[in-house]
Amino acid sequence: MDMRRRSFLAAGAAGAAGAAGAATLLSGAGTAEAATKAPSRGPAGFLAEDAPLRELAAKIGLRIGSAIIPQDIDTPTWNAIAASQFDVYTPGNEMKWQVVEPEQGVFDWSGADNLVNFADANHALVRGHTLCWHNQLPNWLLAAVAAGDYTQTQLLDLLQQHIFTEVGRFRGRIWQWDVCNEFFLDANPSGIDPNNWWIVNAGPEVIPLAFRWAHEADPQALLFYNDYNIGGEDGTNAKSDAVYAYATQLLDDGIPINGIGNQGHLDTQYGWSPQLLRQDLERYVSLGLKVAITEADVRTFVNNATAQVPTDNLALFAHPFEYTEMLKAVLAVPEAISFTVWGFTDSDSWVPGTFAGEGYAAIYDVNQNPKQAYYSLQSELAVAAHGAPHRVQTYTPPITRPIS
Ligand code: XIL
Repeated sequence: MDMRRRSFLAAGAAGAAGAAGAATLLSGAGTAEAATKAPSRGPAGFLAEDAPLRELAAKIGLRIGSAIIPQDIDTPTWNAIAASQFDVYTPGNEMKWQVVEPEQGVFDWSGADNLVNFADANHALVRGHTLCWHNQLPNWLLAAVAAGDYTQTQLLDLLQQHIFTEVGRFRGRIWQWDVCNEFFLDANPSGIDPNNWWIVNAGPEVIPLAFRWAHEADPQALLFYNDYNIGGEDGTNAKSDAVYAYATQLLDDGIPINGIGNQGHLDTQYGWSPQLLRQDLERYVSLGLKVAITEADVRTFVNNATAQVPTDNLALFAHPFEYTEMLKAVLAVPEAISFTVWGFTDSDSWVPGTFAGEGYAAIYDVNQNPKQAYYSLQSELAVAAHGAPHRVQTYTPPITRPIS
C-alpha cells in the first residue's frame, strides 16, 4: 500500500493540486496541520478526498479499471498511475486473437502474461477482452475463410479451440471475460448484424456456443456480452432494446451469461442521456445480470493529435460531466461491479488514431496530469464512499504467482 501511495505521488498524479484543501473535507479535521499533511485517512478513518480512485471505490466494493497497453507498464510514470489509481485492468489489445495467435498454431502470450502479472503485482483483477469479435482477427484466419477453406463447422471448431486455449491458459485469473463483442446493428430496429463476420461465416449459434465454451474453460469467470451505444447514447434506445431481448433469450435458453458490458465511448458532439443509461443498466440487472462500464472515454474535436486541446470551450464542461454521470449511474446500481476507462491518459488513447480530428478523451492529459474529469470522478467516489450502496459480491480470482 505504501509503495502505491509513494509512486502515486511521485507520478505527480492527483496529489499536488488536490492535496492542500482536500484533507479537511472528509476527515472533518479542519486544522491547518491536517490541511497541509494531506493524509490519505482522516482521524475518523475516513478517506481523504485526494485518495486514489481505487482506494475510494474500494469502500463500496466497486472496482475502477483502465485499458492497459504495454507502454503503460513499460513507462515508469505511466506504470505508477496505472498501479495506484486502478484495480482492474483490461488488455487494450493483448488478449485479442490477432495478437495471441499471429500465425496459426504459433502463440504469443507475452503481452497477455505481462498484463496478468502486472495485475497480480498490484493486487488488481483482470477483465479478459475479447474472445469473439469481428475485428482484430488474425490474418491467417481471415485469408483462409475468404478462400473458403473452412466449413461453418470447421470455423466453429477453430473458435472453440481458441476459447479453450486462451480461457484455459488464464483459468482462475480472470474476473470478467468479454466473450462476445459488438454483434448488434446501430439501427432502429436493431438486432444481431446479419453481415457480422462471425454471423456470416459461422452462423448465429456462434454467440451461445462461445459462452458455453468459455464457461467450460473457466467455470468461475463472469462472462459478459460487451457493446457500445447500449447505455443512453441512442435516443431511440433501439440497440439496448435488442441486446436486452437477446440477453433474455440467452438466459431462457440456459446460456451461461453473467453480465452486460456497456462500453461507454461518448462523444461531446452527440446527445446522450444519463437517465437512460441508468435505466438501461437497471433493465439488464432485472434479468439477474451484472453490469459494468467497460471502455469509458469522452472524445471531442481538438486542435491536433499531439496537444489535444478542445476546439470548443464547452467541451471542457461536457467532458467531466459525461464521465461523472456515467459513474453516478454505476454508483446507483449495486450490480454495477466495475467502471473502466479505455486508457487513462490522452497519450495512450485510441481516439486520435481512430476518429479524425478528435481527442482529449481520457481523464489524464497528454502530459499525464489529471484533468477535471479525474477530479470530478474522485469527488464523486469520495462522497459515494460514505453513502452509495455496496456492490453485490462476485467471484474474485485469487492473486497468484507470476506466469513464467
Ligand atoms: C481498440 C484499441 O484501443 C486500439 O488500440 C485498436 O487499434 C483497436 O481496438 N471497442 C473495443 C475495443 O471493444 O477492443 C477497441 O479497442 C475499441 C472499441
